[in-house]
Amino acid sequence: MKNKTVEVKNVVRTQHMFETLLTRSMITPGIGLIHGPSGFGKTTTVTYMFNELTVAGQQPLYVRCYATDTASSFLARVMTEIGSEPMYPLRKMVDFIVRAMNERALSLFIDEADHIVGQPKTMETIRDLYDSTEQPIVLIGMEEIARRISHRKQLFNRISEWVEFKAADLEDVFKFSQELLDERISVGEDLLEYIRQRSGGEVRRILIALEKVERAAIASGESFIDRAAWGDGQLFLNHR
Ligand SMILES: Nc1ncnc2c1ncn2[C@@H]1O[C@H](COP(=O)(O)OP(=O)(O)OP(=O)(O)O)[C@@H](O)[C@H]1O
Ligand SMILES: [Mg+2]
Repeated sequence: MKNKTVEVKNVVRTQHMFETLLTRSMITPGIGLIHGPSGFGKTTTVTYMFNELTVAGQQPLYVRCYATDTASSFLARVMTEIGSEPMYPLRKMVDFIVRAMNERALSLFIDEADHIVGQPKTMETIRDLYDSTEQPIVLIGMEEIARRISHRKQLFNRISEWVEFKAADLEDVFKFSQELLDERISVGEDLLEYIRQRSGGEVRRILIALEKVERAAIASGESFIDRAAWGDGQLFLNHR
């Protein structure tokens, strides 16, 4: 199985969303939100976009939040991303980050934002970073995040773009099989549809299933595997 990011629909929608944030007019606020269930590809998509932007010379900042984060540890991680040591009091870090974001036109991606959405101080700090730079800031989290942020009116009102990650459809599953599997192997549409259904459209589970199909095909020397050829071999943990 190849290791690359496939440009399925959620990826393309996210790229558009970020492009819109970058080219928005002065009157539109620039906070974006990416949300959706676990394993749907949010982190992979943002990392991919991050690399594309870096190649284009627009190095953004990417930080992942942790369950134990505070405003202080969050800011310290952004400082590390910028390439600087943390500073105290926190106000100094905020000033430093604002200056760096302004001077280098840095956008900021905040992954696993669920961990900080319940923390008023961290969330208000993020709003401060946005208000002082007006550089795009994108929050990434699970399904619940949109509802939880909606209680923070000041931040919520600054969200102008959002993407909800959807379950992969058959076309997406086909694209994964085309781009990730060994070129010698093709998978029948009925087996791809079976994988789509049984995975619930979750990319993580789709790739696990495709890898099993690929291994079996290589082991048996078959180049085409459909539902009948697969038989009742196990593809999913909950397979009955
Ligand atoms: N577009 C893609 N192309 C190739 N592989 C992908 C793609 N999207 C997701 N994956 C794979 O699926 C797995 C799950 O994706 P990812 O970790 O990005 O999901 P997530 O939405 O961030 O989940 P969580 O909410 O648990 O953090 C990863 O191992 C990744 O390799
Ligand atoms: Mg993730």
